[in-house]
Amino acid sequence: MSEAALAGLKVAVTGASGDIGRALCRSLAAEKAHLSLLGRDAGRLERLANELRHLASGVSVRPVDLTSDESIARAAAQLQQETGRVDILVHGAGIFEMGAHASAAVIAFDRQYRTNVRGPYLLTQALLPLLCASRGQLVFINSTVGLEARAEVGQYAATQHALRAMADALRAEVNAEGVRVLSIYLGRTATARQAQIFRLEGRDYKPELLLQPQDVADMIIATLRLPRTAEVTEIRMRPLVKSY
Ligand SMILES: NC(=O)c1ccc[n+]([C@@H]2O[C@H](COP(=O)([O-])OP(=O)(O)OC[C@H]3O[C@@H](n4cnc5c(N)ncnc54)[C@H](OP(=O)(O)O)[C@@H]3O)[C@@H](O)[C@H]2O)c1
Repeated sequence: MSEAALAGLKVAVTGASGDIGRALCRSLAAEKAHLSLLGRDAGRLERLANELRHLASGVSVRPVDLTSDESIARAAAQLQQETGRVDILVHGAGIFEMGAHASAAVIAFDRQYRTNVRGPYLLTQALLPLLCASRGQLVFINSTVGLEARAEVGQYAATQHALRAMADALRAEVNAEGVRVLSIYLGRTATARQAQIFRLEGRDYKPELLLQPQDVADMIIATLRLPRTAEVTEIRMRPLVKSY
C-alpha cells in the first residue's frame, strides 16, 4: 500500500512556537497540510504563520494556555468552528524544571503537571470526537526520561511517565475507531531549552552533537504518512554520540 499524503489534512500542533514544534510545522507545511498553531505567545505563532502561509494549504493561530481549562475549551471550540475537522493532533508543548527530590519546590511539580499532563489530557478530550470522526492520528512528544528517569529530573520525568500512560490507555480505547496514537521519546535535542539545561549542568553546549529538531520532524512525518495498514505505537530517538 502506498504512503498516505498529508496534503489538506487539518493538523493542530501545540508548542508550535518551540524549537521542535517549529521544525515539525515547517515540514507539515511543506507537505501542504492545513496547520493550526497553538501556544501562549500569539506573536511567536504569528511570525511562524507568516513564514508558512505560502507553503501550507492553510495556517491559523490559536493562542492557548494549557494550564487554563477555559483557554483549552475556547481553543478547541475555535478549532471546531474553523475547520469542523481535525485529522492530526500533535502534543508538542511542555515545560521542564530541574531539581532534586530533597529540595525541588512542589509548586514546580504542579506547574509541570498542569502543562505537561492535565492540559494535553483536556485538549485531547475536547478534540477526540473530531479525531474519531476523521479516523485521525495523535502524536505525543515525550522524553526518554518518560521511560527511564534519572537524578534531578524526578518531577519532569513523572509528568512524562504520566503522558506515556495517557497515550497508551487512549490508544487502547480509540484504536478500534481507526485512530492511531504515537508516543515519541526524545533524548537531548538541540533546542534553546537544551542549551539552558547544559548551562544548569555546567557543561559546554555543542548542539551539533545532539539530536536535531529536523530529525524529529522527519521521523514524525514518516510515521504519519504510513499506510493505514500499520500503526507505530512508540519511537525512541537519541543522539548518535553517547559520550557527550
Ligand atoms: N529539547 C529536548 O531536548 C527535548 C527532549 C525530550 C523531550 N522534549 C519534549 O519536546 C517538546 C518540545 O520541546 P522543545 O525543546 O521544542 O521545547 P520549547 O522550545 O521549550 O517549546 C515548548 C513549547 O511549549 C509551549 N508551552 C509552554 N507552556 C505552555 C502552556 N502553558 N500552554 C501552551 N503552550 C505552552 C511554548 O510556547 P509558549 O511559551 O508560547 O506558550 C513552546 O512552544 C516538549 O514537550 C519537551 O518536553 C524535548
